[in-house]
This record gives sequence, structure tokens and C-alpha cells, in this order.
Amino acid sequence: MKVGFLGCGKIGGAMLSALLEDGKNEVTFIQDPFVGQEGKPCPVTEKSDETLLEKTDLVIESATVDVLKENVEAILKHCNLMVFSVTAFSDEAFYAQAKELTEKYGRTIYLPHGAILGLDGIADGRKVIKSVRIETTKNPKSLGRTDTERTVVYEGSTRQACREYPRNVNVHAAVALAGLGFDKTQSRIISDPAVSTNAHTITVDGDGIHFEIVVSSQAGGGVTGKYTPYSAVSSMFKVLGGSGEFRFV
Ligand SMILES: NC(=O)c1ccc[n+]([C@@H]2O[C@H](COP(=O)([O-])OP(=O)(O)OC[C@H]3O[C@@H](n4cnc5c(N)ncnc54)[C@H](O)[C@@H]3O)[C@@H](O)[C@H]2O)c1
Repeated sequence: MKVGFLGCGKIGGAMLSALLEDGKNEVTFIQDPFVGQEGKPCPVTEKSDETLLEKTDLVIESATVDVLKENVEAILKHCNLMVFSVTAFSDEAFYAQAKELTEKYGRTIYLPHGAILGLDGIADGRKVIKSVRIETTKNPKSLGRTDTERTVVYEGSTRQACREYPRNVNVHAAVALAGLGFDKTQSRIISDPAVSTNAHTITVDGDGIHFEIVVSSQAGGGVTGKYTPYSAVSSMFKVLGGSGEFRFV
């Protein structure tokens, strides 16, 4: 397969290194205005380039919601897409646009499980699930805040959580897409200066079922925890090997 990268920071960089080391697939481009050409085995661009997209099978986005929105049409015209900035889909207009483009061009959008586990099980239980709640606890620095004590900074629908914390609640967005949607899924975000982890607790209840999924990963600066780059690499290889990952449509 021929793979392009939209954004090549912590997550994208880990996938790029793994892909190059594996050597079985080709990297056609890196689109990231803050990455230099030096040492890179493919063109590095600032903006999308149609001639490079035409030569690409799969684009992996790990940049930001706005960058994804700006590039989605150009990408889906030529390629399948794997998305890490999942909170973008909480925007109803963007969700509709993405769905329409996949149908128009016959493409697939893949949703990697990212920082969380169990999306497959939540999706499988949709018919009997009645309530899904997610609580995330992060250090204030990760949330772009300066709290000096444990503070509940958000409680409400996952749709609004995605609007207020687009870089921090991709897990909430992924769970909403897998389960009950952005309006029926309930989010809680806690800022805690005492923690150095990104921790998520997902509680699912339904007719005769109860799941609790607890995932904690060392934060290590930025918005992304220690586990996510490993999970991203594995998801990428699953998609490249044809075994799927969670599909948007
Ligand atoms: N799905 C999940 O579970 C999950 C988990 C963690 C992070 N994320 C999300 O994944 C994305 C990437 O996270 P990260 O930790 O790798 O971030 P990062 O900041 O390390 O990398 C982002 C990259 O995007 C690049 N970028 C900025 N503007 C750009 C532009 N105009 N065009 C192309 N590239 C541009 C930056 O230069 C940077 O290299 C973020 O949206 C983050 O919120 C998702």
C-alpha cells in the first residue's frame, strides 16, 4: 500500500518510523508545515498536493481537527482515510460532509481505537446499551489550564465536550461514535494537578449488561499519552493488512 501522512508529530512520527522500519509499504508524502525535508524518504509538503494524493491509497491524519476539515475532500477524492482527530465528527456538518464524500468516492474512513480499548465491544452491544458515561482525568497542563486543585471542568454531553476540549477528548468521540452518539453519551472531564497520567473510565449499562473499562497512560507532555503511539502503529498495520479497525461507514 502507498501511505501519506497528514501531520507527523508524536503519533504520526511513531507510525512513520514503524512503516519505514517494516519496509513493506511505501510512504508517498508527509504533509506537515513544521516538519523539515531533511532525512525524509518522501516529499514533505505544507499544503495538500493532488499529484501526490493520486499516488496514495491511505492517508493517516494525526494533526488537528481544523487541518482534517481543511483537507478531507481532497483526500477522500483519491484515498481512504484513517483519523486520529476524532472529535471533528462531533460537528454535525462535518460528519455529514465526511459521510457524503465516502459515498460519493467509494472510500472508507477508519477510526483507530487510539487511547482507549473496547470500541468493538461497545459497538457490538449497541442494541442493548442504554447508557454510556466517560470520565477523563488529566493534569491541568494537558488541558491547557492552571488549576491548583482537583476540579471538574466539564460535565454534560460528549458533543459539547468535543467543542470545548477538541484535542483532549478523542476517546469520548470514539466511544460516542461506537455507541450511542454524541448527544446521548455523557462526558466528565477532571483537571487534577496531582496526576501525571491521562486516565479514562468508561461505564456502559444496558439490558442485562454492565461494562467498566479503565485505561491509564503516562502523559509525558502534549495531549497524547504513552500508550497511543503503540496502539496507532498496530491499528495502521491492521488497516494496511486489510483487517479493518473500526469503520466510520
Ligand atoms: N484518537 C485518539 O485516541 C487520540 C489520542 C491522542 C491524540 N489524538 C489526536 O491526534 C492528533 C495528533 O496528536 P499528536 O500527539 O501526534 O500531536 P502532535 O502535536 O505531536 O502532532 C501534530 C502534528 O500536526 C502538525 N500540524 C500542525 N499544523 C498542521 C497543518 N496545517 N498541516 C499539517 N500538519 C500540521 C504539527 O506540526 C505536528 O507535527 C491530535 O488531534 C490529538 O488530539 C487522538
